[in-house]
Amino acid sequence: VAASIEDTRSFHESHGLTGTIQVPGDKSITHRAILFGLLASGETTIDGWLNAADCNSSLHVAKLLGAKATVSENRITLHGTAGSLSEPEDILDCGNSGTTMRIFSGVLAPLVPFACVTGDASLRKRPMERVIAPLREMGANIVARGGKYAPFSVQKSRLTGIEYTLPVSSAQVKSAILLAGCFAAAKKTVVIEQTASRDHTENMLGAFGVEIDRTPLSKTGNMIEIQPGQSLKAAHVTVPGDISSAAFLICAAAIVPDSDVLIQNIGLNPGRTGLLKVLSRMNAIVEIVREESVAGERIGDIRIQSSALTGTEIEPAEVPSLVDELPILAVTACMAKGDTVIRGAKELRFKETDRIHAMAKGLLDIGCDVTELDDGLVIHGREMILGGTVDSFHDHRIAMSFAVAGLVAKSGVQVQNWSCVQISFPSFLETLQELM
Ligand code: S3P
Repeated sequence: VAASIEDTRSFHESHGLTGTIQVPGDKSITHRAILFGLLASGETTIDGWLNAADCNSSLHVAKLLGAKATVSENRITLHGTAGSLSEPEDILDCGNSGTTMRIFSGVLAPLVPFACVTGDASLRKRPMERVIAPLREMGANIVARGGKYAPFSVQKSRLTGIEYTLPVSSAQVKSAILLAGCFAAAKKTVVIEQTASRDHTENMLGAFGVEIDRTPLSKTGNMIEIQPGQSLKAAHVTVPGDISSAAFLICAAAIVPDSDVLIQNIGLNPGRTGLLKVLSRMNAIVEIVREESVAGERIGDIRIQSSALTGTEIEPAEVPSLVDELPILAVTACMAKGDTVIRGAKELRFKETDRIHAMAKGLLDIGCDVTELDDGLVIHGREMILGGTVDSFHDHRIAMSFAVAGLVAKSGVQVQNWSCVQISFPSFLETLQELM
């Protein structure tokens, strides 16, 4: 199918991005706040929520499960169900949102008489056995298409806690198991992750009054323990700006000559800040200029100035802390001198699209020198991008990565299938405009 002209956006070589901006609320935190508000007793308020398609999928599902929501641009007020979820009258359509599908599954199994779960064409291709298998081990009754894809149905059952070592680092899977463990009928649940992933679920469960224990394991891992039969109490959640959205503007400022940008009020959860470390290694001038802790989450302002960059190696153990930032990092690496090697990132093949392939293809299409690996990319940085037309493959992070490429490309970049930016950053163009 040919891409439409209406859904193509052009980006041109520019100079001197400057100014102070904020970005929309954190997607991971907003999803969790909506789910926890649904589960809690009392009234949860969520300030600074991400009003974008993905989080609206969570809100839609939460309403079908019995949450009463009052929604304004900046605040959601949720009247929770105190754990008595309704049997949904319709299929739970999670749209494009893998986070919605995976984290809600953890509570459907112990709390909802019967539910059917589906998503859009992209989500129906994404692996769900990673949540279905451990939930079944706990006693969940799940029937899935092909044994492992959406649509799937879940019938309420009595769950028993398990000890589970995550085969892949995934905060979504970790969250689903911990939530199922929280509502299990018996036995403690223990989740072991060999490489730490974002811990918003653990932090926020604490804020909603759930007891959860965490023990660091080896250099990079964690053991998380949760007792069965717990309940959530409503809380007030303030959502910081999403570092994964800020990443596009951080990298744009790093590579567009004469840039100096301050991004305020960004979430700095240590499981999310890998990009800042990698950029520092590449000689970027990136600095956290203010930092505070709000409800267990670090928040701060980031200043970034353009500079001459050099290539670097991204270690497999770093990948979970910048998994969503690898597409924009690949663009940034094209503007550096020397090779940048990304390994241990096979998970990128299972995102909204196969991001390894989408980036390799797109970068080649705009004249960059890149080698596609099974589990990553090697970018042979030439400190320049020629330009051309690329496909987003309907993946929001691919679309915005190539928009940034356009800002440094000699002949600009046209991004086809642009409207997917609605998934996480509907105001991207306006925010970029503020810096021009
Ligand atoms: C997320 C976890 C990550 C990330 C996704 C959001 C979350 O996925 O890529 O955008 O909110 O827990 P995985 O759990 O598949 O690593």
